[in-house]
Amino acid sequence: MPLKLTVIGTGYLGATHAAAMAELGFEVLGLDIDEGKVALLSQGRTPIYEPGLDDMLARHVVGLEGSSGRLRFTTSWQEVAEFGDVHFVCVNTPQKQGEYGCDMSHVDSAFALLAPHLRRPALVVGKSTVPVGSAARLAGKLRELAPAGDEVELAWNPEFLREGFAVQDTMHPDRIVVGVASERAESLLREVYSGPVAEGTPFLVADYPTSELVKTAANAFLATKISFINAMAEVCESAGGDVAMLAQAIGHDDRIGHKFLRAGIGFGGGCLPKDIRAFMARAGELGADQALTFLREVDSVNMRRRTHMVELAREALGGSFLGRRIAVLGATFKPDSDDVRDSPALNVAGQIHLQGGQVTVYDPKGMDNARRVFPTLGYARSALDAVRGADIVLHLTEWREFRELDPARLAEVAGQRHLLDGRNALDAEQWRKAGWTYRAMGRPNA
Ligand code: UDX
Repeated sequence: MPLKLTVIGTGYLGATHAAAMAELGFEVLGLDIDEGKVALLSQGRTPIYEPGLDDMLARHVVGLEGSSGRLRFTTSWQEVAEFGDVHFVCVNTPQKQGEYGCDMSHVDSAFALLAPHLRRPALVVGKSTVPVGSAARLAGKLRELAPAGDEVELAWNPEFLREGFAVQDTMHPDRIVVGVASERAESLLREVYSGPVAEGTPFLVADYPTSELVKTAANAFLATKISFINAMAEVCESAGGDVAMLAQAIGHDDRIGHKFLRAGIGFGGGCLPKDIRAFMARAGELGADQALTFLREVDSVNMRRRTHMVELAREALGGSFLGRRIAVLGATFKPDSDDVRDSPALNVAGQIHLQGGQVTVYDPKGMDNARRVFPTLGYARSALDAVRGADIVLHLTEWREFRELDPARLAEVAGQRHLLDGRNALDAEQWRKAGWTYRAMGRPNA
């Protein structure tokens, strides 16, 4: 009998994981405490924009025409406990309000609600990003609360998916890391992931703390890489260098590589910023705070990018935003996502608005979310409408749509032809030819 899987929490991670497991041939039951989300997912739709996810759901959600019927959703903990051999916990772990630490309340409540129903052998697999030490604590909780006692085990299996590539990253991961306390747990997870492993994905078996740390360390490294190149951008601006050329040149060294060296307004989103802060907080609790003090600097270089962008824009407008119209292209924290959580683009737009600028934002997919977070900003229906009459245009999220804009057409409607590229992603020559002044971050002479 193939294993039956459940997925608890159907956000970015859970919805994608559930659909991907059905795609791999398993029967899957997804649970969310939000009835609206369950209703939407049961129609094969998602509350988020993630390329390919709706199609994958449509291929498997029960009752949809032509679907495999292997995937369904519920709000019932009892149903989930009775159904599953393996339960994946995919709930979110946001930053605590007003402090650096990780808010574990969703994880804790998922375990507390599931465990009392576990009356038969099962493996509970945590996928959420958690402070190191959580798995050992949660394993104890399961032993205490699950009626099946020792027959219920815990494993940790961090998820490395990127928004915008969630489907691809889940179906073809770079590596699978499992933190286990028994051979049985390992062999169940080998069975779950036999598909990707057969395609050559490395399967790494670790203990609980290492598996938890792999995820936080990976995100800390990525954040550090971005802040490193952004620190170089600061130096380039003072020294008259070109950070894009510098990144290209150092990236040719295989040990450094080209990826994650794009200087600009920095990183945001629901993961990197809160994960490095939670990592610092946890290291502090463990008495290892000195080891991670550099992450404080990584965080401050990153936050400085946003204010620097605001300063560049103010400078370009002669020292004040009052009475000036600012077009902002991009609201999401990265392209191919509708996520505006801790978005550098929206933060810059908000700062300028608070300093008296008349800001008009356009984003291909993030408008609804941006409006919810920042209802007082102006919003346009297209890039062209946002730019109409603007004194300056800020390119803040590198959507393909923006690279394909016609600078000559925009020049016709713009008030003034000033462009600031906060992502070092537009073709400077093309914009200049159309009469724009082009300025990018970390490239004073570009
Ligand atoms: C990240 C990790 O990549 C992923 O492995 C983890 O599971 C979750 O966190 P994600 O938040 O989806 O994924 O975005 P990512 O592609 O890593 O980008 C993060 C931020 O860094 C974005 O705001 C992006 O614009 C910025 N970034 C990225 C840069 O500023 N420069 C770069 O060179 C690369």
